Amino acid sequence: MKRILVVGAGGQIGTELVPHLQKVYGKENVVAGEVREDVVKKLSENCEAIKLDALDIQGYGEAIKKYKIDGIYNLVALLSAKGEMNPLLAWNINMGALLNSLNLAKEFKCALFTPSSIGAFGENTPHKGTPQDTVMRPNTIYGVCKVSGELLSDYYFHKFGVDTRSVRFPGIISNGCLPGGGTTDYAVEVFYEVFKNGKYTCTVPQDAYMDMLYMPDALEATTQLMEADPTKLIHRNSFNIANMSFTPEELFNAIKKRIPTFTWNYEIDPVKAAISASWPDYMDDSCARAEWGWNPKWDLDAMIDDMLKICKQKVEQGLY
Ligand code: SER
Repeated sequence: MKRILVVGAGGQIGTELVPHLQKVYGKENVVAGEVREDVVKKLSENCEAIKLDALDIQGYGEAIKKYKIDGIYNLVALLSAKGEMNPLLAWNINMGALLNSLNLAKEFKCALFTPSSIGAFGENTPHKGTPQDTVMRPNTIYGVCKVSGELLSDYYFHKFGVDTRSVRFPGIISNGCLPGGGTTDYAVEVFYEVFKNGKYTCTVPQDAYMDMLYMPDALEATTQLMEADPTKLIHRNSFNIANMSFTPEELFNAIKKRIPTFTWNYEIDPVKAAISASWPDYMDDSCARAEWGWNPKWDLDAMIDDMLKICKQKVEQGLY
């Protein structure tokens, strides 16, 4: 039986990955680790939750031992736009959490999932149909951490046999917990603002075309990859996965079709403008499809309808 520890469990992905893992592996087999005490308290309403600082290797190791963990999901990261405000802090957190996860996975023979991102690509990467194996010269500290993380994770697999696996997540659209500090956050925020204020001010340029993914597909990808037959994996760290791409203008127009009173404007953040321009328009995810059966279910229209339905309820209930 798998025993799983999710580190950074209170963030955008963790908030929804924990219940997904509970469904797949059983509630009693998932432990949520989170550094913020108030978030630990909230998580503990629905799962075994512990205060865990991924940069404290001793405390991290003790949790693995205590709960007999054999699978780690390391979700600790400062995102792209926030990382540019304090690059050294982003490096220390993102790489510190990864290195501790790798070393503990090696010591305790755990499988390790660490998300990579479209942020691992840069200006010189082919932006249309971005291949699985291509130029990776990101111009953000977040991207530098992601490329370094992919290389290190492959290194630990080849050198020490650690079962490291990863996907390059596009911008993830979700309704569990707001993302914070990312360049793709606009595509989440807008769904709440539609109902709160009827209008949205976007800080990303109207023509910034980026890959996106709806959370249910992101969750499915994660467990599907971790359960995949290792003999079929030619790649490991990290797989392109994609299923929808759009610009802010396209998304807002699609929302307006459903809510005709919705309006928006732009106040461009130059940092986000530079980042979004350097990322792929759409990635080629054929390796993920061939090697472990990646097969996303949600298209743009279905995602918008679902997000509008859920975010409307949350705003009406005063949850946002
Ligand atoms: N959503 C992330 C960001 O915008 C990309 O992985 O930083």
